Amino acid sequence: MAEIICIIGTKGGTGKTTLSHLLCHGLGLLGRRTACVMTDEYRDPLPPQGRRYIMADARSPQARTKVVEKLKELPGWMGVLDGGANRTDTDISLYEMSDLVLLPFRDSPEDLRTVMHDLELFPRAFALPSQWPKNKWQKEAAAKLIATMPADMQDRVLSPTYAVSASKLLLQSTPPEALPAALNNAAKAVACQVIDILGDDVAAVEASLREAAA
Ligand SMILES: Nc1ncnc2c1ncn2[C@@H]1O[C@H](COP(=O)(O)OP(=O)(O)OP(=O)(O)O)[C@@H](O)[C@H]1O
Ligand SMILES: [Mg+2]
Repeated sequence: MAEIICIIGTKGGTGKTTLSHLLCHGLGLLGRRTACVMTDEYRDPLPPQGRRYIMADARSPQARTKVVEKLKELPGWMGVLDGGANRTDTDISLYEMSDLVLLPFRDSPEDLRTVMHDLELFPRAFALPSQWPKNKWQKEAAAKLIATMPADMQDRVLSPTYAVSASKLLLQSTPPEALPAALNNAAKAVACQVIDILGDDVAAVEASLREAAA
């Protein structure tokens, strides 16, 4: 069965769409067959040309269910669902469809407040620092911000995706053929992190099956 990852969250502009494409690109670079599924009715899906992943338009609730059901039938595929801001009901339905749920957030107090609320609402979700600063001082300030979260929430914060200005190239209708190494590296890093987390789930299932059979 395909594995489904959704990128959701209440706040706008946290980097959901960029992260969706970055992750799909990274999974593509790692040889995984991937579909980027646009669920945001306020945005147009991008054309598929020049990408290492396919694009799916699932902006209505009906299309969403059908596209995800179809994807789930495809062994070895990964589906990345790009959410939209301020849509708690839609986020709940995307959450329920997904094997892995990512909540991108930026280094601002407002982002932190919103992501903590979302972490409470979505107990299986992980928070993913997005457009994270690389500069030493800003990075330290951002780490201090995370340190203000309750410990159990800090445990659910993944490694950051750093700010990479070239990430907007993936949001062009046709990305250039040759993409900067910094972009490809960021894409592979986030894809590896996702594969690791999903792999842990596989290990947990294997362990529980062994236990059941013993
Ligand atoms: N890793 C990144 N590095 C640099 N810029 C980024 C990164 N991720 C996102 N951005 C920029 O931040 C802005 C918002 O990103 P994006 O559209 O992906 O957010 P979103 O959460 O999908 O927004 P919306 O809530 O409107 O759907 C864009 O201008 C995008 O180019
Ligand atoms: Mg978006």
